[in-house]
Amino acid sequence: MEHLKIIAGTANRSLAEEVAKNLKMKLTPAEIKRFPDGEIYVHILESVRGCDVYVIQPTSPDGNQNLMELLIMVDALKRSSPNKIIAVIPYFGYCRQDRKAKAREPITAKLVAKMIETAGVDRVITFDFHVAQIQGFFDIHSDNLDLIPHIVQHILGRKLKDIVIVAPDVGGASRARTYAKVLHAPIAIIDKRRAEGTRKVIVENIIGDIKGKTCIIIDDIIDTAGTITEAASLLKQKGAKEIYVYATHAVLSGNAIEKIKNAPIREIVFTNTIELPKGKMLPKIKVLSVGHFLAETIRRNYGGMPMGIVYDSMYKKIQETMKK
Ligand code: R5P
Repeated sequence: MEHLKIIAGTANRSLAEEVAKNLKMKLTPAEIKRFPDGEIYVHILESVRGCDVYVIQPTSPDGNQNLMELLIMVDALKRSSPNKIIAVIPYFGYCRQDRKAKAREPITAKLVAKMIETAGVDRVITFDFHVAQIQGFFDIHSDNLDLIPHIVQHILGRKLKDIVIVAPDVGGASRARTYAKVLHAPIAIIDKRRAEGTRKVIVENIIGDIKGKTCIIIDDIIDTAGTITEAASLLKQKGAKEIYVYATHAVLSGNAIEKIKNAPIREIVFTNTIELPKGKMLPKIKVLSVGHFLAETIRRNYGGMPMGIVYDSMYKKIQETMKK
């Protein structure tokens, strides 16, 4: 892997380090700093000429800063004669602005995709786009990796009985259905809406049988935590036995941690697509690392090898665990 380089932005350095360690290599050094006026400066500190360079930078909060940093890093690389630049964006910010819901609204996810392309990226690798069609916003190659087998394996490790997979809103129903299918479990869907013009979550009804059951809420993003904490309270109120939550991206804005702390949730599992600062850890929060999988993805991507075989072996392991 002589011509493979991995470089980290400042948004999730620990994940980048884990990836590099798994690949038994060092991160390409770079100086990244802010000028007094807030502008970002990047200097790549070793040659990348002729190399395939993987830039690891989620555009998590502060999303604007992290996106701009990614674009500037790509520009610095582009001017350094690499073979290819691959943006690894474990969390793709602005993903929820994926459609024009009202007149005179932007489709910011598409704008961001265009900005990344224009900066000179040849390929993007992401995890769990909010909706799969965002992949179509890119005209360059994009790999949107799902983490279903990792999360399912973790759920199986809990050895929970009588489970129901819960979608915290109608938009999450198809995601929940996929998990339910793999786990041979029933599903329930929460009827969620937001109060007109606010982020306030209103949940009133549950479709499905959750009484006396262990509920596993699956979501892609936890931002203000309004969705999952209101969902958990409603499930508890309607007779659920225990509530677990699995979510890919821990955005955790505002007082999300306080809400999670007070919610009737037994355990909440995030992945580390977004780095969780120590101050945001609670005993009920667990982090599932995607570092090893991302390293394998990069190794295969660099070598032009397919990912299907990796997924097949993970699903085979799941079947074996389920037979035990
Ligand atoms: C909604 O469509 C998403 O899948 C998440 O459920 C939502 O973005 C979570 O937001 P919050 O934590 O602020 O309720």
